Amino acid sequence: MTAPKKLFIKTYGCQMNVYDSERMAEAMGGQGYVETSDAADADMILLNTCHIREKAAEKVYSELGRLKKLKADKPDLKIGVAGCVAQAEGEEIMRRQPAVDLVVGPQSYHRLPAMEERLREGKTALDTDFPEEDKFEHLKARPKAKRAPAAFLTVQEGCDKFCAFCVVPYTRGAEVSRPATRVLDEARDLVERGVREITLLGQNVNAYHGQGDKGDVTLAGLIRELAKVDGLERIRYTTSHPNDMDDDLIAAHGEVPELMPYLHLPVQSGSDHILKRMNRSHTAESYLRLIERIRAARPDIVMSGDFIVGFPEETDADFEATMELVREVKYGYAYSFKYSTRPGTPAAERPLVDPQVADDRLQRLQALITQHQQEVQQSMIGREVSVLVERAGREAGQMLGKSEYLHAVHIEASDAQVGEIAKVRIVDSKTNSLGARHC
Ligand code: SAH
Ligand code: SF4
Ligand code: F3S
Repeated sequence: MTAPKKLFIKTYGCQMNVYDSERMAEAMGGQGYVETSDAADADMILLNTCHIREKAAEKVYSELGRLKKLKADKPDLKIGVAGCVAQAEGEEIMRRQPAVDLVVGPQSYHRLPAMEERLREGKTALDTDFPEEDKFEHLKARPKAKRAPAAFLTVQEGCDKFCAFCVVPYTRGAEVSRPATRVLDEARDLVERGVREITLLGQNVNAYHGQGDKGDVTLAGLIRELAKVDGLERIRYTTSHPNDMDDDLIAAHGEVPELMPYLHLPVQSGSDHILKRMNRSHTAESYLRLIERIRAARPDIVMSGDFIVGFPEETDADFEATMELVREVKYGYAYSFKYSTRPGTPAAERPLVDPQVADDRLQRLQALITQHQQEVQQSMIGREVSVLVERAGREAGQMLGKSEYLHAVHIEASDAQVGEIAKVRIVDSKTNSLGARHC
């Protein structure tokens, strides 16, 4: 028997790429590849890339520059680029970096095995189609090996919203939902393999409409069905769009105990003028009213969001409106980014805000967000929470996991097992985690 070949995958970008990397590794398993965590040891290196901001895309080219040197010493090494940069730039990647053997887009990676065959013949392979067929139907069944207790599961892909700054509608294509029956099958399968928590993924996951046994199923319907799966203790979903938060989904937050009290609901800006220019089709006020309704359904929910500062035409007053919205919502987590021009998007043609001004705004916003994050963490001290134990910590007797609010928690003096949901009391708060003891 020949020794298996080794595949190293480096994943950039969002959780959907994390899920895709898993599926690509599984697909390559059929070609005789096993995964390695050491790039130097690999026969094939695949970069699963992100195109969301200029920096993310440029990182890929500097990594490819390093890999080219590795290939100089190891001529049989194959280098592939997958993900959103692959989709956006296609052939251009091979022109810019001739060491690349393979380029595959996020909707065509079920064709990786056939592409790998081409590499064996000494050819290169490129596929950035948006194929008619559903890639999930063409991927082999997932292996049955035991796995970690928290897993991602992609249920929806693509985006029809066309925010003026964003590349996702171009790199991932139109909104498509996987059939509910398939999602439920995959979830049951994951549970059999030791999974206790599933995060449903989609670029606009709450726009989900999938075919079920009895017709169309919404995200709320899917969550209610998943809640019935024996052994599945926790459900989350991300990323959602404010305009797709329907009444049933809001109600589910109050009614489905398995649905965790944490919600990532990006708003991007607190200024109606900027929201309009961003093509967000909601206002700051409608977003705040929406959060009120969500909090009425689930009062302890921890909110999370995304912000862009320095969007073209953003004035001091627009930025202050964003700060005001953040003060009103008080996020438990929030991610803020400086606007990055993406070629081909509508906003790319517009004049930029002075970069120094944008940097200052970003710093101020991040300071406010950090302050709130710390306050929300502090408010957990003394409270009883449940933690899904994911692994052992570095110190003896320490176990690590996530609370229902998605806070990272260290449990001290613990005899809890991986996969167990432990009832603990929070005793302290560090910068990015909470400390706890068993109740
Ligand atoms: N589908 C998700 C988010 C996708 S991208 C949603 O609609 O919420 C993740 C985040 O990256 C976005 O929420 C936005 O805050 C940020 N982002 C997207 N394009 C960007 C750009 N051109 N410059 C800076 N940040 C950007
Ligand atoms: Fe991008 Fe807007 Fe779609 Fe989110 S909703 S993926 S920000 S276009
Ligand atoms: Fe990046 Fe593509 Fe995700 S651009 S954020 S990897 S959808």
